[in-house]
Amino acid sequence: MTTAICPGSFDPVTLGHVDIIKRASKMFDRVIVAVLVNLAKVPCFSIDERIHLLEKATEGIENVEIVGFDGLLVDYAAQNNATVIVKGLRAVSDFEYEFQMALTNNKLNPDIETVFLTTSSENMYLSSSIVKQVAQLGGDISPFVPECVHDEILSRLKKGENKK
Ligand code: PNS
Repeated sequence: MTTAICPGSFDPVTLGHVDIIKRASKMFDRVIVAVLVNLAKVPCFSIDERIHLLEKATEGIENVEIVGFDGLLVDYAAQNNATVIVKGLRAVSDFEYEFQMALTNNKLNPDIETVFLTTSSENMYLSSSIVKQVAQLGGDISPFVPECVHDEILSRLKKGENKK
């Protein structure tokens, strides 16, 4: 049985994330979606909020579970017998950062491989930052986020609160 991890900030979940999670769920027996701390970013949604939104957005995908973790990704992977890290790659601009993380994780634990899935063309430009910006400026985020979490994300972002 192969367990894969889809790690990320998911601040908040987008249609691009759901696309990668769904495709990973078809490739691996078990997929753990791990909401992790990215020290380079100040989050807008709390870890619990992000987990809740992901749980709703991935409801019905049998082999997917959502977790939160505040340590090193490779440590979480090893503790949970995950041997693969799955990341979505949107554009050339993602490559350097993702390549650096993949090499670092491989150095930290050579038993864990990183696999990149190319984002589907309709999600090439999409990011959580774009969603936050559009919502906070009163734009329509329905093309960017799963319908089942649209209202929650919008009302939360409109409040303009900043939670950790
Ligand atoms: O969605 P993001 O912000 O691009 O995801 C980045 C994330 C959260 C996967 C990355 O920052 C991470 O793995 N954080 C956990 C801490 C860690 O293991 N850092 C070393 C990896 S270079």
